[in-house]
Amino acid sequence: MCGIVGVVGNEAAAPILLDGLSKLEYRGYDSAGIAVRNNNDEFTIVKAKGRLKDLQEKTNDGLAVPGTCGIGHTRWATHGEPSEINAHPHSTDDKNVVGVHNGIIENYQELREKLIKKGYSFYSQTDTEVVVKLVDYYYKKYNIGPIDAIAKTMVRVRGSYALVLMFKDFPGEIWVARKDSPMIIGTENGASYVASDVPAILKYTRNVYYIGNHEMGRLTKDGATFYNLDGEEIKKDLVEIKWDAEAAEKEGYEHFMIKEIHEQPRVVRETLNTHVKDGKIDFSEIGLTEEVINSVTGIYMVACGSAYHAGVVMQYVMESLARVPVRCELASEFRYRNPILDPNELIVIISQSGETADSLAALREAKTQGIKTLAIVNVVGSSIAREADYVLYTLAGPEIAVATTKAYSAQLIAGYLLSIEFGKLRGHLDDAKYTELIKELETIPDKITKILEDKERIQWFSNKLANSTDIFFIGRGIDYAICMEGSLKLKEISYIHSEAYAAGELKHGTISLIEKGIQVISVLTQTDLFEKTISNMVECKSRGAYSMGLTSYGNYSVEDSADFTVYIPKINPLFAASLAVVPLQLLSYYVSIERGLDVDKPRNLAKSVTVE
Ligand code: F6R
Repeated sequence: MCGIVGVVGNEAAAPILLDGLSKLEYRGYDSAGIAVRNNNDEFTIVKAKGRLKDLQEKTNDGLAVPGTCGIGHTRWATHGEPSEINAHPHSTDDKNVVGVHNGIIENYQELREKLIKKGYSFYSQTDTEVVVKLVDYYYKKYNIGPIDAIAKTMVRVRGSYALVLMFKDFPGEIWVARKDSPMIIGTENGASYVASDVPAILKYTRNVYYIGNHEMGRLTKDGATFYNLDGEEIKKDLVEIKWDAEAAEKEGYEHFMIKEIHEQPRVVRETLNTHVKDGKIDFSEIGLTEEVINSVTGIYMVACGSAYHAGVVMQYVMESLARVPVRCELASEFRYRNPILDPNELIVIISQSGETADSLAALREAKTQGIKTLAIVNVVGSSIAREADYVLYTLAGPEIAVATTKAYSAQLIAGYLLSIEFGKLRGHLDDAKYTELIKELETIPDKITKILEDKERIQWFSNKLANSTDIFFIGRGIDYAICMEGSLKLKEISYIHSEAYAAGELKHGTISLIEKGIQVISVLTQTDLFEKTISNMVECKSRGAYSMGLTSYGNYSVEDSADFTVYIPKINPLFAASLAVVPLQLLSYYVSIERGLDVDKPRNLAKSVTVE
């Protein structure tokens, strides 16, 4: 949450900062600000409440703020309401230190009181102002230079931070520090960059350093130098980012979300191609050996939000194909419930960003207990990717829309591959079945394309839902897992209340909410459970529900109980989530458009949830 960016080079900094922030707006968008040093080494700080466009207007797209060294921030409020005063950058009254921050300083109240006693006063409610003034305090008290002042601050604060600072005494230099919040440093052609995420600087460089926890850095236009907490210089390797710069642009689509929905066939294909060689799953690069796979006595899938929903699907698929007991848990619950873990279990952390605070904490909890960890992650070099024992990358590329679509789809593929490999190596799948399942996976991209070709029907149906107040999704087994994702997609971008229910649970309470006109979306892709869910549909319909059925071609009897039916191509029911989710993504998208909402940046949300 919150996006940070910084640049020092020969070009005007403000337009680069604003451009970078526009790529990070998905991380927070209630206010934004930049601080740039001009040729006289004076700082200009400009902030605006609201979307980035307000800051762009206020600065004439950056042209009104001269200088070649600057930092910027787009905010998702944690401490203090969204307002211009609370927006970053923050600075000391004498502008000795100016900074932006992503993360949370947990002991900021105590530090604030300490600083007040030392004569500091505060204009905002933010923890960031406290940390900036604490750096200033150590800097002036000990006269020890930026690195030592930042290091002393890092030892004193509790919490998470990606901190980017400028010091009055050090023109042309940007100083950074990190713990648990994402940060990358890029360098190219006489300029250095810092950002929360790759898309912000992809246009300018593909060569990045990953800065570790408790590390600091100094950026000049000639490059970057890194330091540990003792102030000693440390060496880092440049890593080349393979993502296309275009991948982080809309490329003619009206929104990132619809672009990313359309990218799913490619993303699925690339994830398959990366992990399947000559018709066989190849996890050799991941280091997941036969010995490890056979030693596993149980699996925990741990994740948040949509990634958790992908985990719920994987739970069904893994148990079915590999007969390993699987539990899927919300990371925020797992980490605090003192789980009883067996050393032979495997913890699978699923995360697009690889930075989700709860998922990262769950991973660390597992590692502390000596349990093997495998991460299914999209962002290369992210914290979860770096800390897990094994990493299975999804090849979704940069996902910009806050509501995930293509990353979820890629996660499913990773989960299927894992399940098939476990099934094969643990003796539950013979060669013929193994080959058949992989072939079936390879049909998914074309089948998604076919669903996308029919999107106008869904667009038409979205009109009927645009004024709804409550929408229920029902299904059984994997269909229930699909409902969870469909319901989350709808509520997060259309703000319509919606719930996913295991269809068999309806009669245990929820059916009392069904009355004339209430919309019920039933998902029926699981052959074994089809008749059962049809009965639940009929029960809702006979109480007045307006009903949509989502099923596979051939299941035409759904039309008897549905007002509108959407068909997906036939597929092995274990993989049906990959197809059934697509119409639900489209439905949410079109309902949100119909309601005139900001699809890519829904209210109160941020893409990367780096706070608890
Ligand atoms: C919903 C959505 C979120 C994320 C969740 C986990 O559309 O995107 O629910 O799935 O915040 O994020 P990652 O996968 O980055 O750990």
